Amino acid sequence: MNDSGTLRDRVHEEQRKSLVVLSGAGVSAESDLATFRDNGGLWANYSVYEVATPEAFHANPKLVLDFYNFRRDEVRKAIPNAAHCAIAEAEQYFDVTVVTQNVDDLHERAGSSKVLHVHGLITQARSSVSGELIDLGNENITLGDLCPHGAQLRPHVVWFGEAINHFEEAEALVRNADIVLVVGTSLSVYPFASLADCPRADADCFLITQDIDTVPYGYDYRQGPATVEIPKLLSELR
Ligand code: APR
Repeated sequence: MNDSGTLRDRVHEEQRKSLVVLSGAGVSAESDLATFRDNGGLWANYSVYEVATPEAFHANPKLVLDFYNFRRDEVRKAIPNAAHCAIAEAEQYFDVTVVTQNVDDLHERAGSSKVLHVHGLITQARSSVSGELIDLGNENITLGDLCPHGAQLRPHVVWFGEAINHFEEAEALVRNADIVLVVGTSLSVYPFASLADCPRADADCFLITQDIDTVPYGYDYRQGPATVEIPKLLSELR
């Protein structure tokens, strides 16, 4: 490629609209990963207070580790679906950043290159002393797996009552985005849900989900499965 080609790419890069995708469990539902609040969702079968709080981990670490080992095995079996793939492909046309509540790695496995996991990433373990992250590869976490500081390793997942990751960065991205696409989330959990209220007045905002109590003001709501509505919308926007 000659210099003018590189310059042309750079100009094209700077002219591309910024697209921020705010995703939740519904984007991975058609990859057979359970959501949380739908019928039969995870919180219908497990108590948050027994498996998803620091107090739960302190009281019964084995139950918590087993819960996340089960979910991690499901993630490893899951395959990115057409919604994940369409979001990854959109990088050809937009400057895309995915801000996800999901702890699965399906956005990355579909090819998305900029993914912020505000609730953590289940494929990693974390030292509860230093916060150091450890890639688990094909392993799980068992009682007695210690960090270098001698503390029990925990899943790199944000529990209820803990601060989420990357919030300020995510908020700045949404405030500057040309397009905001909220997909597969009930917008039940804060502060992530507050991101949906941050777009510029002149941004194009879309919501894709199967059902929602209240559509945020200014959003174009596309009710339906993410694997149908995401590819359709992104091809409209190109
Ligand atoms: N296509 C599109 N949307 C779907 C699909 C689908 N195939 N299946 C389900 N949905 C929608 C549901 O209608 C619902 O609005 O996805 C949403 C899932 O909502 P939740 O189960 O509440 O999941 P989420 O919003 O991601 O939960 C947020 O809560 O428990 C915490 O940390 C956990 O990250 C999670 C957070």
